[in-house]
Amino acid sequence: MNSVDSQRIRDAVDRLQAGDVLAFPTETVYGLGANARDDDAVSRVFSLKGRPANHPLIVHVANQEAAGQWASAIPASARVLMARFWPGPLTLVLPARDEVSRLVTGGQDSVALRVPRHPVAKALLAAFGGGLAAPSANPFGRISPTDAGHVRGYFPGLTVLDGGPCSYGLESTIVSLTDGRPRILRPGALPLATLRQALDGMAIETADASDPSPRVPGSLPAHYAPDTPLEIVPFDQMRIRATTLSAQGVRVAVLRHHRGPRQASLPLPQFLMPAAPVAYGRRLYARLHELDEIGFDRLLVEAPPRDEAWYAVNDRLARAAQAHSNGVES
Ligand code: TXA
Ligand code: MG
Repeated sequence: MNSVDSQRIRDAVDRLQAGDVLAFPTETVYGLGANARDDDAVSRVFSLKGRPANHPLIVHVANQEAAGQWASAIPASARVLMARFWPGPLTLVLPARDEVSRLVTGGQDSVALRVPRHPVAKALLAAFGGGLAAPSANPFGRISPTDAGHVRGYFPGLTVLDGGPCSYGLESTIVSLTDGRPRILRPGALPLATLRQALDGMAIETADASDPSPRVPGSLPAHYAPDTPLEIVPFDQMRIRATTLSAQGVRVAVLRHHRGPRQASLPLPQFLMPAAPVAYGRRLYARLHELDEIGFDRLLVEAPPRDEAWYAVNDRLARAAQAHSNGVES
């Protein structure tokens, strides 16, 4: 069976050309796409998502050559990364050409570009021919969808191209190269170590060079949050925290990645996550969606290691925990 249905792709292109918004799969998460050259369509993406106008969108293009239609300058470091990682889970922020809509860039003079690898996204972009402005297909502040069912749950009635579950399950890594020097704006599916290798010793600036794992508490936007309040708990404090909360009548679920016998004997619902960071990242959003469906009062997530391989996972968990400790529900 052909995994990319060409009639579905043609219909989708017709809709995009007519100014419609639709969801499509990428290898990271599902996107909510609109013609990036059509301000009315892009406005619909913002209103559908409930996203503030100053949060820019990523423009998805078919290939490296198309990047020149959006970026006014492509430094050598960007060319290296494009050649190595496109198509793939890397977004590059570059100086924007004047004609790129400031609606897409959130009023900035830079534009975020990405060439996705998912076969449905590739077929869609090839047939469409232009750029698709596409944020993750979730309402603002909610966790990103990693399968078509999540998108349908968020946006009933929206056209969704179903491409199955996403292979990375975590958003792309965003690197700014507006001045040629790489700066990580968002850790993601492409590991920092892999980027570093490709850049051959060139320094990469992270949000906090001394410790890439957590961001400064309090500065985290309320992003990527499940419905169920989430707490990150060190392994050796899990038992006491979990039993204290359940004694108060709080319905607790524990998300662990260690397979230790002490944990296994906890008399509470426990959900096992993969012990390796990439596999953990792939599973995280899908698991949070499942746990939201079950409807616990609190998720206690065993703290992952603080090392660099866990950068993206720690980032998303910290944001999810922060959203709730601020009392921000979106
Ligand atoms: O994996 C992904 O990147 C997914 C799939 C659908 O491609 N997209 C995604 O989009 O995660 P979104 O809108 O949820 O996140 C895009 C991020 C935002 O944090 C936004 O602030 C940043 O990209 N961004 C976009 N344009 C930017 C720019 N010109 N300068 C700085 N950051 C930018
Ligand atoms: Mg998003």
